[in-house]
Amino acid sequence: MSLPDDQGAQWTEERHSPLSSLHDWVYLAREFDYAYRRGSAGGSGKVRSHMKQVRDRLAKILAGKTSVRFPEPAAKPVTAHLGRALDNGLDGSMRSMVRAIGNVQSQLAWEYGYERMPRYLMERYAYADIMGPKGPIISPTLTLGLVLFAPRTTYPAHSHYGITESYLSLSGHWSENDNGVYAPGSIVLNLPQHMHAITTADREPVLLAYAWCGDADTLAAPGMRFSRKPKTPQA
Ligand SMILES: [Fe+2]
Repeated sequence: MSLPDDQGAQWTEERHSPLSSLHDWVYLAREFDYAYRRGSAGGSGKVRSHMKQVRDRLAKILAGKTSVRFPEPAAKPVTAHLGRALDNGLDGSMRSMVRAIGNVQSQLAWEYGYERMPRYLMERYAYADIMGPKGPIISPTLTLGLVLFAPRTTYPAHSHYGITESYLSLSGHWSENDNGVYAPGSIVLNLPQHMHAITTADREPVLLAYAWCGDADTLAAPGMRFSRKPKTPQA
């Protein structure tokens, strides 16, 4: 039996499952652990502290009795770029995680997440959760997922109330708030309520992983909205 969520996506009923039976998902979750353990914090205490928080929360989930709840796989227009993003990612420093994503690719449910979406963005953006309050691996205080952008996309300014977010670059090149260009392996930290916009390079798609740390109520209903007056940097 499957149940619709608030966006109409179908999810299986929650069931307890030893993660040991879900090899591809466990390997992917471990790739997050490796990335947040071996990746560089670049000398930033705030980034280092966030990376440790992600690892600690992830370790608890992987060590405990886990529940899973799988979505019906779903594509969005931007997922036409996923194969290229994975191919490019296999050439870069995050190839191990990219390969693990490829192994669950057919099970991912790509979503928009916003109450209102600019029409142009519907063709150019989507995200898929790996772990979080809804699932697929149920985790109340840590959400891990993937976000995919088409080339030459501006993702409008937004912030996250009560959530500390990091983006981990897996494939392609992108910028946040015009403040730098990030390549595979980069980690960018967005503290709660920090307004941030993303632009992607002209020719190749961008695949990021993200981690959200927050309390259970906030992560269960993150209330994603773009700012009313989006600051849209030039692509
Ligand atoms: Fe964000």
